[in-house]
Amino acid sequence: MRKEFEGKVVLITGGSRGLGKAMALGFAEKGASIVVVSRKMESCVRCCEELQAYGVETLAYAAHVGDWGQLDKMVDAVYEHFGKIDVLINNAGMSPLYPSLDLVSEALFDKVISVNLKGPFRLSANIGSRMASGSGGVIINISSIASVSASPRSEPYGAAKAGLNALTKSFASELGPSVRVNCIMAGPFLTDISKAWDMDQFNQEAAKNIPLQRAGEPKEIVGLALYLASDSASYTTGAIIPVDGGAHC
Ligand SMILES: NC(=O)c1ccc[n+]([C@@H]2O[C@H](COP(=O)([O-])OP(=O)(O)OC[C@H]3O[C@@H](n4cnc5c(N)ncnc54)[C@H](OP(=O)(O)O)[C@@H]3O)[C@@H](O)[C@H]2O)c1
Repeated sequence: MRKEFEGKVVLITGGSRGLGKAMALGFAEKGASIVVVSRKMESCVRCCEELQAYGVETLAYAAHVGDWGQLDKMVDAVYEHFGKIDVLINNAGMSPLYPSLDLVSEALFDKVISVNLKGPFRLSANIGSRMASGSGGVIINISSIASVSASPRSEPYGAAKAGLNALTKSFASELGPSVRVNCIMAGPFLTDISKAWDMDQFNQEAAKNIPLQRAGEPKEIVGLALYLASDSASYTTGAIIPVDGGAHC
């Protein structure tokens, strides 16, 4: 039987681990060809080897999402290899912690904006324009509930993700009707990012303010990503949807 995403090409930044890898596995299971992009080629190759268990075609590519030169080269290479990209998932992100506001360096601020906002802008502009002048496509941005709530110790990150929410709406407007652009606003998920958290404190304090009273497992973001990329979401664009156990409530 034909799988739902057979014949589709899905590019996932930060696809080598965490939420990106969970989404890569989800799309591979549904038959999509997957491009895994992160800084470390070995991690991308290792992830692609796992995805191949689903019998899909994969491409591993090392690029820093904050570097537009690297991104443009990567996009050219993907179009040369597959001839198209149907789904772009701007997932790569980082949120370095710092001890106090006055210790946020200009370099740290620039890096956070660069990875979480500047890269997704360029990829959406480059790939989205090609999608719009071709046979259309879907862009999914991975933002954070830090974009809509106070985020002490991660102010630049919250601001960058708020920018990503804003880009979601503007790109949806600019690239429609053939390209749909949506955003998943993630709450706390158990990935490498959460290794920096004090889990005892999280479970005793933060989790109590979350209706589902726990952090999410990476596989719990996959269903919405598959839905947003599918024809079932054909009338959904410019939407910013939380997947956070209710933490934004
Ligand atoms: N986990 C959470 O609690 C949480 C909450 C809210 C939002 N989010 C958002 O969800 C997304 C995924 O987070 P995650 O928890 O899955 O993170 P993760 O486990 O730390 O994985 C991050 C991924 O991004 C890649 N990456 C990091 N910096 C990069 C760069 N400069 N260029 C290219 N790739 C880069 C990493 O691979 P390399 O190291 O090989 O580059 C890795 O594949 C992020 O946008 C994050 O902000 C996560």
